[in-house]
Amino acid sequence: MQIPTSSTNTATIDHDFIPEIELGLLAENASISPKFLYDPLGSHLFTAITLLPEYYPTNTEKNIFSQYKDQISQAVGIGGTLIDLGAGNCQKAESFFESLKPSNYLAIDFSVEYLQDALNKLAGKYPHILMQCIGMDFSKQLIIPDSIAPTKRTFFYPGSSLGNFLPSEALHLLSQIKNQANDGGLLIGVDLMKEDAVLMTAYDDPLKVTAAFNLNILRSTNSHLNSNFKVEQFRHVAKVNHAENRVELYLEALENVIVSWPGKSREFKKGELIHTENSHKYTIESIKQLLMSAGFETTQIWTDPKNYFAVIYAK
Ligand code: AVI
Repeated sequence: MQIPTSSTNTATIDHDFIPEIELGLLAENASISPKFLYDPLGSHLFTAITLLPEYYPTNTEKNIFSQYKDQISQAVGIGGTLIDLGAGNCQKAESFFESLKPSNYLAIDFSVEYLQDALNKLAGKYPHILMQCIGMDFSKQLIIPDSIAPTKRTFFYPGSSLGNFLPSEALHLLSQIKNQANDGGLLIGVDLMKEDAVLMTAYDDPLKVTAAFNLNILRSTNSHLNSNFKVEQFRHVAKVNHAENRVELYLEALENVIVSWPGKSREFKKGELIHTENSHKYTIESIKQLLMSAGFETTQIWTDPKNYFAVIYAK
């Protein structure tokens, strides 16, 4: 992969996702990786979710960021490269440009089209920051290109996206971050465990935006696999799994369905589930433990009055 050096550059790492999607669909307990939620429409639907009053993580994190901006910025320190993991519309990172004064901003996300639009807008506003973006599936491996200055790197991973990984995957990602941070660290937002009612309305909202977001994974799958899923044959289901400390999302077949794609097919009986996402919820102790296991030595933590969410700077 080559990253050129003008002010808003893009690089995409291409993957053949077909074997991975087939493996999930043909398993006895079918699944589709949550990364396929974020095609261009899915990314916009996720932005819509973050505007819902029921989806507390976004606002709660935003309030923590604004209330403790000075303390957080002091902990992180100024300069170096700000590396935004799962950058989306880049707004959260932008809110730290003023106080962290990065010389470089590297935005990484799965959906590069959506990212590029956001970055083009930002580049005009902050001409002194060298901006680059990469389309990367860092759920498997996070490799910061050699062209990114090997000086202090601050990884920024807000929104509790870490929670979408299994604990072993989260540990692997955090270890890779620690190994590539040089003298810097990780500024991360994580969602904390709370009562079921709050979780259920956040993940099954009355406007059905989350349902549309989840169902859209079938269209995203169709475009990768050339399959023939019909969204109207499935419904969105959210469950709280206490044993695993997470919310789980599924799509349930509303009738017997046969889905086919070149060379293969899969039958879903009425009521059968396709697992599409896990959203792990942490305690302060469990996230500290995970960060320490990944090699981080110190943590500074900020929370909201209800203890719904935590922002952590780990070094
Ligand atoms: C991106 N991620 C942190 C969201 C979450 O809460 O797990 C994705 C999401 N799924 C449904 N609503 C939001």
